[in-house]
Amino acid sequence: MKGIILAGGSGTRLSPSTDSINKHLLPVFDKPMIYYPLSVLMLGGIKEVMIISTPEDTERFERLLGDGSSLGIQIVYKEQSEPKGIPESFLIAEDFIGKDDVTLILADNIFFGQGFTTLLRNAIKKHKHATVFGYRVKDPERFGVVEFDHHQNAISIEEKPEDPKSDFAVTGLYIYDSRAVQIAKKLKPSERGELEITDLNKEYLKWNQLHVELLGRGFAWMDAGTQESLFDAAEFIKTTQQRQGFKIACLEEIAFYLDYISRDMLYEKGKSMEKTDYGQYLMEIANRKHNQQYWDAIDHHPMLGLAGNE
Ligand code: TTP
Repeated sequence: MKGIILAGGSGTRLSPSTDSINKHLLPVFDKPMIYYPLSVLMLGGIKEVMIISTPEDTERFERLLGDGSSLGIQIVYKEQSEPKGIPESFLIAEDFIGKDDVTLILADNIFFGQGFTTLLRNAIKKHKHATVFGYRVKDPERFGVVEFDHHQNAISIEEKPEDPKSDFAVTGLYIYDSRAVQIAKKLKPSERGELEITDLNKEYLKWNQLHVELLGRGFAWMDAGTQESLFDAAEFIKTTQQRQGFKIACLEEIAFYLDYISRDMLYEKGKSMEKTDYGQYLMEIANRKHNQQYWDAIDHHPMLGLAGNE
């Protein structure tokens, strides 16, 4: 399974904050926005990741995350010359995907909830063809909306419908087989001049090959694309972290618990930014003697809802 983070776009709704910097490098409370989608891919067990961004910003992401080795994963980078639509990522990543399945996440999407990792890992394990994640919202007309039967097979999918057939929005997390590349090649731009992910999903739907995973009410799904939603997301992260004493989407912590990096690497990373709460947090985890016992005792992983045995 390959992973793609789509971090291009124009970010016009966050102007002027995004006039000189990519939206996904802005902080969501205590870490850059891109940490959140990358944490999702890591928790899903994906170790080969491509980050796609604009020609101006790709280098900035590279400066932030490097080749991924400090997290025990591989990260490669590619540019999207213009924001010509989400499925264009599959054309850009054709060689990277090869014959593998691929999980795509939009870089301004934040997922949080106990059991999310288990849900994602199971979805990846049993995945065939195409899987999207549905989330109930009160304003479905703003989203891609999916209607499904009791086996969670999609029956219809519509982009921003005036009269939605369900309350379930399609989130910015998708799993496909490698055919997504060939399907994306045949898509035609929509009226707004973009290749539409809903059109790609409709192709799978034609073959009854579009599966829907539901994220229940215990999950938070946020997109941080407007001033308001960015602020709300930051507030949510701050409050949750403060209350629980665990960080959400702390990449080094995830890498350590997944055994991708050593305790020493974790400590050194923390030490390199010890003036920050983030750095001190890493050092504290590295110094904790009984992580495993602690982990077993509370019976679930202490971050981003990584549940041990739900
Ligand atoms: P959007 O929110 O649709 O667009 P945007 O990020 O450019 O923002 P705005 O509407 O304020 O101008 O994009 C959703 C996500 O997908 C976002 O994380 C950017 C990413 N994206 C790309 O990287 N390339 C693209 O061609 C498109 C359409 C989106």
